[in-house]
Amino acid sequence: MFTSAPYTSALLVLLCLLDHSSSYLPPSSSQCNRNLYPQPWNLRFDQISILMSGFAEKRLPLVRQIARSYSVSPIVNAIYILWGNMSTPWQLLNQTDSLSLGAPIYIVRQDSTSLNDRFLPRAFIQTRAVLICDDDITITLDELKFLFQMWKENERRIVGFFPRSHEYQIHQKSWIYTIHPDRYSIMLTKVMIIATDYLYQYTCKMPKGVKAYIDSQMNCEDIAMNFVVANATDQGPLLVSGNPRDWGDTRNSDSDFSVSGLSAKKEHRKKRGDCITVFHQLWEGMPLRYSYGKVVNNVEEQVLCQKNDTLVRCNS
Ligand SMILES: *[C@@H]1O[C@H](CO)[C@@H](O)[C@H](O)[C@H]1NC(C)=O
Ligand SMILES: *[C@@H]1O[C@H](CO)[C@@H](O)[C@H](O)[C@H]1NC(C)=O
Ligand SMILES: *[C@@H]1O[C@H](CO)[C@@H](O)[C@H](O)[C@H]1NC(C)=O
Ligand SMILES: *[C@@H]1O[C@H](CO)[C@@H](O)[C@H](O)[C@H]1NC(C)=O
Repeated sequence: MFTSAPYTSALLVLLCLLDHSSSYLPPSSSQCNRNLYPQPWNLRFDQISILMSGFAEKRLPLVRQIARSYSVSPIVNAIYILWGNMSTPWQLLNQTDSLSLGAPIYIVRQDSTSLNDRFLPRAFIQTRAVLICDDDITITLDELKFLFQMWKENERRIVGFFPRSHEYQIHQKSWIYTIHPDRYSIMLTKVMIIATDYLYQYTCKMPKGVKAYIDSQMNCEDIAMNFVVANATDQGPLLVSGNPRDWGDTRNSDSDFSVSGLSAKKEHRKKRGDCITVFHQLWEGMPLRYSYGKVVNNVEEQVLCQKNDTLVRCNS
């Protein structure tokens, strides 16, 4: 029956593809078909996938170096460099093949320059958690391990290194975006871990209008993710102590609090405050919650003493 070979094999390939998802949807709406993605309980819990956003060609050498350094870690399942510059020629990106020292490194070209695309759910992700990071931040493998450990104990929350805060201005009747010395409600996507499932929730379950607003402002996708998670958990994010190295991006950067006076930075903060105000309206409430304090990686060894027949802490 299947004799016209080329036609048949193409058909069979198509059938195999269709077989993976139980129902076929056209590409535009297929993103939100749950069946396209592994079920959370089928994903690995002992490893993490890294989604690193890259855009500037001049930083490609740094991106490669960062990806290579993460590939050594046994807790890293795979590293995906989400490349957002659509004009970058393939030849520039293709030199990643021999980079890996362990975990595979992939370049994933984004289909658009929308900031929302960094949070697209991906059928290829095989882990329950993803590390979201920018291309100009490095953390040590010990910090990565600790961050992942803390996420495992708080798997519904955002766990990260860079905290920010929202605050209400009574007179202006609007929200501001700020740094508060002892509380925080927003974790920056410079580097953070979230459950993989939040990518789906961000893309498919956010209130209408949020993604369009982000596209119009070219900003605040990270704040929206914090809204998604806070709304799902009714909890704030978790801050972990560490010393991530920031190589200083200017695009969508938040280094605005360390340098004084520049009007561009003031403008950036204002824009982010406006995002909070708009998201508050679109969510019809304020899901963001404050957290206090941070988790410290205490490497101090527990010295045990034998007292009678049992081991107890020496200072107890
Ligand atoms: C994006 O790619 C184009 C084409 O290679 C390049 O001219 C441009 O500088 C790139 N943008 C950045 C920010 O690197
Ligand atoms: C780069 O890699 C892609 C995907 O593997 C391939 O389609 C393309 O031909 C490669 N381009 C070059 C210039 O090597
Ligand atoms: C926020 O959380 C509430 C309570 O769980 C839920 O009913 C609502 O649908 C959520 N809103 C969004 C936009 O996810
Ligand atoms: C050790 O055991 C003895 C006998 O059981 C008991 O009298 C003594 O109080 C114990 N010492 C400590 C430090 O627990």
